[in-house]
Amino acid sequence: MKIKKTILTILFILPALTFAQGNKAVVTIQPDVRQQTISRHIYGHFAEHLGRCIYDGFWVDPNLDVAKDGRIRIDIVKALRDINIPNLRWPGGCFADEYQWKDGIGEPDKRPRIVNSKWGEVVEDNSFGTDEFMKLCNLLGCEPYLSANVATSTPKDFREWVEYLNYSGDSYWAEQRKKNGHEKPYGVSFFGIGNESWGCGGNMTPEFYSDEYKRFQGFAYNYSGNKIKRIACGPNGDDYNWMETCMKKIPVKMLWGISLHYYTIATDNWSKKGASTQFDEEEYFRSIKNALFMDELLGKHSAIMDIYDPKKKVALVVDEWGIWTDPEPGTNPRFLYQQNSMRDALIAASTLNIFNKHSDRVRMANLAQSVNVLQSLVLTDNEKMLLTPTYYVFKMYKNHQDAELLQTNVASDIYEYGMESVPEMNVSASRSKNGKIHVTMVNLNPKKEISTDLIMLGIGFKQIKGEVLTSDSYSDYNSFDNADKVVAKQFNSIKKSDDNIAVVKMPPLSVVALEIF
Ligand code: AHR
Repeated sequence: MKIKKTILTILFILPALTFAQGNKAVVTIQPDVRQQTISRHIYGHFAEHLGRCIYDGFWVDPNLDVAKDGRIRIDIVKALRDINIPNLRWPGGCFADEYQWKDGIGEPDKRPRIVNSKWGEVVEDNSFGTDEFMKLCNLLGCEPYLSANVATSTPKDFREWVEYLNYSGDSYWAEQRKKNGHEKPYGVSFFGIGNESWGCGGNMTPEFYSDEYKRFQGFAYNYSGNKIKRIACGPNGDDYNWMETCMKKIPVKMLWGISLHYYTIATDNWSKKGASTQFDEEEYFRSIKNALFMDELLGKHSAIMDIYDPKKKVALVVDEWGIWTDPEPGTNPRFLYQQNSMRDALIAASTLNIFNKHSDRVRMANLAQSVNVLQSLVLTDNEKMLLTPTYYVFKMYKNHQDAELLQTNVASDIYEYGMESVPEMNVSASRSKNGKIHVTMVNLNPKKEISTDLIMLGIGFKQIKGEVLTSDSYSDYNSFDNADKVVAKQFNSIKKSDDNIAVVKMPPLSVVALEIF
């Protein structure tokens, strides 16, 4: 068996490396090399009380003329159900460390009006609280991921939130939940303990935070048999010291996961991040390069985690990622509203391929943010709603959820800009429970079609079909006047050339998703 595999490698992978020069690329997939399952939670999302994500996003004015369940907007719910949204993180973000959950339960007109100090000093009327969020998750068919307040709250408040949500017996907080219309406990498992505790969540040192984490996590009881998955606040980008300190100080048994936040910008300057649709090749290249840095980050953070957790019990949870541009001119700059281009779809697709690759450690992730904030899936304008190019990527990638990762080798050229370069192509492959193989491929080169020999090592296949997302320019986007400019379409440039080989012609700037059986 081993000899057969070596011969196959010599026959296919080595020549592939020489073919790869010029316009031709070679992708080999090894369906017989067993790897880990890609957790569906990698495909998670995020909804913060920020700008128009919750209010005037998911949760609308009772008079808005759209289909609603209560005040929850149903067109958004349907769109997210269509991509099999696995989990939704809430209520922040920075907002989470100001949020007092007790303000958001009970009769809506008795709930206090507070100031959302982090995000534009707007009045937060608390009309969308815990029960409304749980209803949203129920409509979406996804798991809730709650972010607990460490900076301005106490372990007592946290314990009581868990009791309100999860206790089935006859206690004060369980009674409050029942009075609010929810007899049965919600059974929430995912809890993040603090958000960006190194920054907006309290400006803590990793030593201090680790102690706080240990204190708080002990009060997230597994009420009524519901097992809590406790997630610590991890580092900001390449702050390896934060990761190292937390992993050293917090026993593995106290952690289900530890988070990582990393945002892509189109420049090297956070005060001028670049515009969402008006950008040139310099910014296109810079944002792609910055986005691909995720691969190095995950590799290095995983290596640190391996020292303290060699059995990989602790998940790396990338619970904020995506491209962050300058806000749209004319909008409230604290609302972080930005358009979403073909470039952003390529970033999402490449990042998801990277997450799949690291799925032995990365078992959850949340794009920031689902509706009307940062790299959104959905944008709304009163009654109108549109799906962004990024939305279509999640739709095309949904078959990777809970599928088995397959060993993939890519031999391709580079995309050069000035003196710099990035690999022009990235790929991920998985096998679903029904035996079908799904391959997602990204061509980042704006100037070149890539013809790829896709080789399935050791097995033949009968059929191959696919979808493509592409556009003439990286800055193309869907507007409320032209909402279908960048949408996924049937892909026809695939030709089966042998029992186990297909030739795939990827247009410049494209994401291709293939189904093989
Ligand atoms: O997603 C927007 C903000 O970015 C979040 O509130 C915060 O956690 C991060 O800095």
